[in-house]
Amino acid sequence: MTPSVIANPALAPEGEKKIAWAGQHMPVLNALRERQLGDGSLKGLRIAMTIHLEAKTGYLARVLQAAGAEVAVCGSNPLSTRDDICAALAAGGVTVYARYNPAPEEYRRFQELTVEFEPDFVIDDGADLCALLHTTHRRFLPRVKGASEETTTGVKRERAMEADGTLAFPVIAANDADCKHLFDNRHGTGQSSINAIASLTNLMMGGKTVVVGGYGWCGRGLARYAHGMGAQVIVTEVDPIKALEAYADGFRVMPMLEAARVGEIFVTSTGDREIVTTEHFQVMRDGAILANAGHFDVEVDVHALRALAVSEEEVRPDVTEFRLPDGRRLHLLAKGRLVNIAGAQGHPVEIIDLSFAVQALSLHYLIHNYRTLQPRVYKLPHEIDEEIARIKLDTLGIKIDRLTASQEEYLHSWRD
Ligand code: NAI
Repeated sequence: MTPSVIANPALAPEGEKKIAWAGQHMPVLNALRERQLGDGSLKGLRIAMTIHLEAKTGYLARVLQAAGAEVAVCGSNPLSTRDDICAALAAGGVTVYARYNPAPEEYRRFQELTVEFEPDFVIDDGADLCALLHTTHRRFLPRVKGASEETTTGVKRERAMEADGTLAFPVIAANDADCKHLFDNRHGTGQSSINAIASLTNLMMGGKTVVVGGYGWCGRGLARYAHGMGAQVIVTEVDPIKALEAYADGFRVMPMLEAARVGEIFVTSTGDREIVTTEHFQVMRDGAILANAGHFDVEVDVHALRALAVSEEEVRPDVTEFRLPDGRRLHLLAKGRLVNIAGAQGHPVEIIDLSFAVQALSLHYLIHNYRTLQPRVYKLPHEIDEEIARIKLDTLGIKIDRLTASQEEYLHSWRD
């Protein structure tokens, strides 16, 4: 096994403090560490994990390690890796293949090394490790018993693998658990992306026209948080139901080409590509801000922007100014990568507590059930999802009602 490859081991103490802070604010994951994850079932298992390598992910790696697993990690985006977290994890015995902003070949090599760790289980983000295992790295497939998937884009790719008969092991779509996408995609992406845009630009959100590309789980959050800060929100969609939902939620809806003429801040989260591209850049206002919150950097068409521009300059950290031939300036945030993670600190810790509780229990469920599961994409059983919500409510001191026997009977009968 290749030992850890990281940027700077001396950063470990700094990383340690950040992981400790995250851990203090993850009561659900801490409860699971004592309960389900304490049953010994992770002992001696090899887990390969790719998730944005920052403090919260560091804490998840620690929890899996404490449950007895051997853990190898790599980043899931070249710009979201934090070198101090890598250093702390490597010092504590996690195998780490990651550094901030590696060259594309090195980034890919880190993913390959993580697969070459010969995992029993995979925690994937965007299906990159799954894709390697089913293409160039098939020799590592036989040992893998299952994977859980963090994000919408990854689930979409794994469903495509299932549909064409490629998928070789069961996958739990952690993203599709209610305790994941209702909170992480919606509130987490919403709050952290709008925060990131405001702090990277140091500009005001109130009164601005913010164009949100896509009104799925993330888009709903982006629109809501931008509106909450006083912005006038326009939504673009291709799905008529989502478009109608956005309208009913109080937002203006129009095609991107129309929105491009009036928008001041653009933020995409469709999981699709070329949402903002040449025809849109050509009609945008001078000074427009372009950001992406979708998984891959293909939503704002950076290649097209570069091809159109006569100059490109980093005018603030993570703000690149592209000057067009007619003098207009368009400002791209975080190189078009996930603005909340590549350009800021990512989701609030309490939200990732829920997401990683889902990941931890997806893994636990796979360990106990992989023998009877097919090579398909599964949802986490609803009872497990509900249990996570109950633990979270407990930690918040919130009590809820329970159905009475009479109500149970009423809800399950048709005669009354
Ligand atoms: P979703 O499937 O709920 O929503 C995507 C929406 O985009 C859909 O309503 C779809 O109709 C719309 N869409 C697709 N093509 C479009 C186009 N050409 N123009 C306008 N709208 C279009 O997906 P979700 O969960 O909102 O995720 C979106 C992306 O964000 C994915 O890539 C996902 O992996 C990523 N993600 C990012 C996070 C972050 O921290 N930044 C957190 C969670 C997910």
